[in-house]
Amino acid sequence: MVGQTTNNANECPFSGTAPEAQGCPISDPAAMAREFDAFQGPYQLDPAEALRWSRDQLPVFYAPKLGYWVVSRYDDIKSVFRDAILFSPRNVLEKITPATQEAQEILKSYDYGMARTMVNEDEPAHMVRRRALLDHFMPEKLEQQQDMVRRLTREKMDAFIDSGRVDLIDGMLYEVPLLVALHFLGVPEDEIATLKTFTLAHSVNTWGKPSDQKQIEVAHDVGRFWQYAGEIIEKMRAQPEGTGWMHHTIRMNAEIPEVVTDSYVHSMMMAIIVAAHETTSLASANMFKTLLAHRDAWNDICADPTLIPNAVEECLRYAGSTVAWRRQTTAPTTLNGVDLPEGAKLLIVQASGNQDERHFEGGDTLDIYRDNAIDHLTFGYGAHQCMGKNIGRMEMRIFLEEVTRRLPHLRLADQEFVYMPNTSFRGPDELWVEWDPAQNPERADASATRLYRSFSVGPPARRDIARKVRIAEVRREADGILGLTIEDAQRRALPKWSAGSHIELCVGDYDRKYSLCGSPDDDSYSVAILREDLGRGGSRHIHDTIHAGAEIRMRGPSNLFRLDETAPHVVLVAGGIGITPILAMADRLKTLGRSYELHYAGRSRSTMAFLDRVTRDHGAVLSLYPRDERRRMDLPALVAGLAEGAQIYACGPERLLSALETLTDDLPEGTFHFEHFSSNAAGIDPDNEQAFQAELTDSGLVLDVAADTTLLDAIMAAGIDVACDCREGLCGSCEVAVIEGEIDHRDVVLTRAERAESKRMMTCCSRAKGGARIKLA
Ligand code: HEM
Ligand code: FES
Repeated sequence: MVGQTTNNANECPFSGTAPEAQGCPISDPAAMAREFDAFQGPYQLDPAEALRWSRDQLPVFYAPKLGYWVVSRYDDIKSVFRDAILFSPRNVLEKITPATQEAQEILKSYDYGMARTMVNEDEPAHMVRRRALLDHFMPEKLEQQQDMVRRLTREKMDAFIDSGRVDLIDGMLYEVPLLVALHFLGVPEDEIATLKTFTLAHSVNTWGKPSDQKQIEVAHDVGRFWQYAGEIIEKMRAQPEGTGWMHHTIRMNAEIPEVVTDSYVHSMMMAIIVAAHETTSLASANMFKTLLAHRDAWNDICADPTLIPNAVEECLRYAGSTVAWRRQTTAPTTLNGVDLPEGAKLLIVQASGNQDERHFEGGDTLDIYRDNAIDHLTFGYGAHQCMGKNIGRMEMRIFLEEVTRRLPHLRLADQEFVYMPNTSFRGPDELWVEWDPAQNPERADASATRLYRSFSVGPPARRDIARKVRIAEVRREADGILGLTIEDAQRRALPKWSAGSHIELCVGDYDRKYSLCGSPDDDSYSVAILREDLGRGGSRHIHDTIHAGAEIRMRGPSNLFRLDETAPHVVLVAGGIGITPILAMADRLKTLGRSYELHYAGRSRSTMAFLDRVTRDHGAVLSLYPRDERRRMDLPALVAGLAEGAQIYACGPERLLSALETLTDDLPEGTFHFEHFSSNAAGIDPDNEQAFQAELTDSGLVLDVAADTTLLDAIMAAGIDVACDCREGLCGSCEVAVIEGEIDHRDVVLTRAERAESKRMMTCCSRAKGGARIKLA
């Protein structure tokens, strides 16, 4: 938890302090907090944009109109999701607008008794139940459902494909997810129209702000829905051999009634239809609306369907259907410097976290090539992360694949979008689209209806997430260093990036990461690549083969080396080719008018890239240390002379970084930031590895990690999503907590002290020492 440290989140944190560097600050964040209204105004128009001021200035604030603490930054939301004990989910299905007396009476008359299900159950009851009921959600089980989803999608499309105009929601996106949900659950399909009224009423009842009059109508529908859910269960109990998840749940209710309780079964029957259906319908509608409004992205998908899985993830990030979730503190605590009392109710706004620039480069723009789109929080995170995420993904992929293939010329019709006012679910009521049926590809070639691309169930494959780029220029930056200018293959502007960002170039069989060092205002990118004759071959290959005009693929940009632009003073230290991210940081600090100094060491001037540029642009604060001129950086003096609050950012050879790490050991956390050129964790050599076992205490699973597998892959294969970005021990995203066992740490993320403590490990590269069994949280 980092960031501002005000204890009173209702007071302006900036009185007497310098405003943050990002854009013009709202002059009175306290007033914004007081006025925050989740049911109308900017939040209903665009929740992420409506909370931009909060992300920048007051990331945790109390909203008196709602009676909730609002949390808007990615890291804070994730840390709340991560700790389901301190931040209990018990209020997830609570009526956010309390029921009137009359509505309560009506609900009572139906014996309405919505209780804990899964999503709002506390530990330890929740995890035992989740484990008992998880099996049906495993990717290999879901593969069998793909044909059914495609058949239903096609039937719906066949009905409107020649019409030229349709409300996609009415025509397909409402009913298919409902039918898929019913099929998955094993619930009879005969009452779709009734269910439509009921699920809407349940959403308004739980997350909306109905008027007193509307509460009466809603209470009747919710009461009937409750009774209807009970009747369905009775019908299902009468079919002990029935298939589907609810049948399985009912059987588990008989087998382990203390885990899968009666009250759970009834409440879940009602909640799951909304959980499985509304979420997916709305997310699919948002996806089509978003992509049709971003024509380049739509056209790219039509031309290359392999982009679909990541495009779906990016749409879930950029315009997800669950925009905010709830939690309640079980003890007094502090979140990003704000004191929260026991029982504090939190509205954690995933839509805002999903566009947080601190985690997603250019977070407020859609980029279907974004390589960390999958980090979005739309499915939640941690112990309660959506069990049905792979069903939702599967449906959205099939919708997008069928529609882009059969109607690539589809466009949004002119219309005003209407949304149901509520805190948590978002998607338009209608989505009108148009096209010229004469242009339908299947009229010219009937195979367009039949031939399709399918995707395996689960998260997107990383190899498919890469954009096509062209090398615009190759130049010599210094001895042994090539400079490349990279542009989009279709000459579109490449995404915006921030100082410290890197990209990954895919050249031949090599995928290699390089820091960006041009100007963030350019539409193209610049990198500098040192030829490493003793390296793993990537830089040699690029030096030997790359030429202007070459078309290659590229991932990113991502930023794992972020600059704190509010530090009172920044010391930048570069060794050799490590100048690339450091130069971008120096440029940024200069543009912002911040206080900084730049130290740049190298073998000799002829091997030091960008010497002219650094001298021209940063001469006043620059110290150069060419070794052949016997100039050496005095690191102890540099660290000893650090002003209070100053931060060091360094990139360069291992010995430089480890010397600085040792020297800054006793300084406050957050003083020293570094980026390695490469990691020591380059792949596994099965001949020299030992298999081991990892017990996951949250889920009770025991995983066998073979000698040729990483722990990360073993966890993913068990159907559990672990965030991962670099897969080579560099980024820290795949960290898990270690409860027991000795770890062979191979990452460069943990400090020496943390490694010695062995309370965390990076699953992508680190292993159990000596093949022993380890226990993880
Ligand atoms: C939980 C979103 C589809 C079943 C959740 C949560 C969210 C969510 C935000 C709470 C996560 C947390 O507290 O960390 C979505 C979205 C979907 C989707 C955006 C579609 C795009 C589905 C489907 C099903 C499903 C299709 C079932 C067929 C569940 C269940 C839970 C859950 C059972 C409770 C998990 C637990 O508490 O352990 N979902 N969901 N969801 N979802 Fe989904
Ligand atoms: Fe980056 Fe493991 S994925 S450290």
